[in-house]
Amino acid sequence: MDYGMKNRLSRIIKPRSGKTVMLAVDHGYFQGPTTGLRDLRKTVTPLVLHADCLFITRGMVRNCIDPDADVPICLRVSGGPSILGELSNEDITTSMEEALRLNASGVGLSIFVGADNEDRTISNLGRLVNEAERYGMPVLAVTAVGREMARDARYLGLACRIAAEMGAHFVKTYYCEDFYKVVEGCPVPIVMAGGKKIPEMDALKMTEKAVKEGASGVDMGRNIFQSDKPVGMIKAVRAVVHDGASAEEAFEIYSKG
Ligand code: 5RP
Repeated sequence: MDYGMKNRLSRIIKPRSGKTVMLAVDHGYFQGPTTGLRDLRKTVTPLVLHADCLFITRGMVRNCIDPDADVPICLRVSGGPSILGELSNEDITTSMEEALRLNASGVGLSIFVGADNEDRTISNLGRLVNEAERYGMPVLAVTAVGREMARDARYLGLACRIAAEMGAHFVKTYYCEDFYKVVEGCPVPIVMAGGKKIPEMDALKMTEKAVKEGASGVDMGRNIFQSDKPVGMIKAVRAVVHDGASAEEAFEIYSKG
């Protein structure tokens, strides 16, 4: 890995702990003004101080994140369909030049293993990695879930491994039973997506288990910004990810807000 690649990746995955708390706020790229992100600037501003990185589209960076906000950006560069269409019908939508202009520390796109356009989305990843390597830009592969596919270790393990084989520098996936098997089969860091909003204690327990089973942290959205105490929740997630706090200890942090 060359200097620029390592330097950018270390802005996302913190060398102190080898872990990251990424805040995912890219949902609008196919969901529109979703709950909690209708006014993205208002939601994200108090959370920025506590996030190691934002996973976000270029339009929201330009309009809702101040250029002097001290937070690395991992830019979502894929899109196409909305929730009304076939979600796997994605292409690369944002250029590497744009990622560099926005001073991104990484770029991310989804692959849809087991869905209609799996082949095209995996090729998208390969092409993105080819280009990213030229500029020392880390690539995050988001293993999106085909509607028919079970979120189990076999399927998520397949998707994460394919992402790593294509050259992704880190991978995002969901927590599942036997998550450690997904980690074992994937030689690059895995960050856990939170998924739909669940009670805070459950989200913290899931985070604790994921980290214990080898996750390099989280790229979490709804379980933070849809919480009744978003700042408390992101602080609690940080305690689990970076400081090895238990879910119970972290819940105390969340409760204080
Ligand atoms: C959607 C994404 C989201 O960033 C991802 O789902 C993480 O957010 P959440 O924790 O809300 O699931 O990549 O494709």
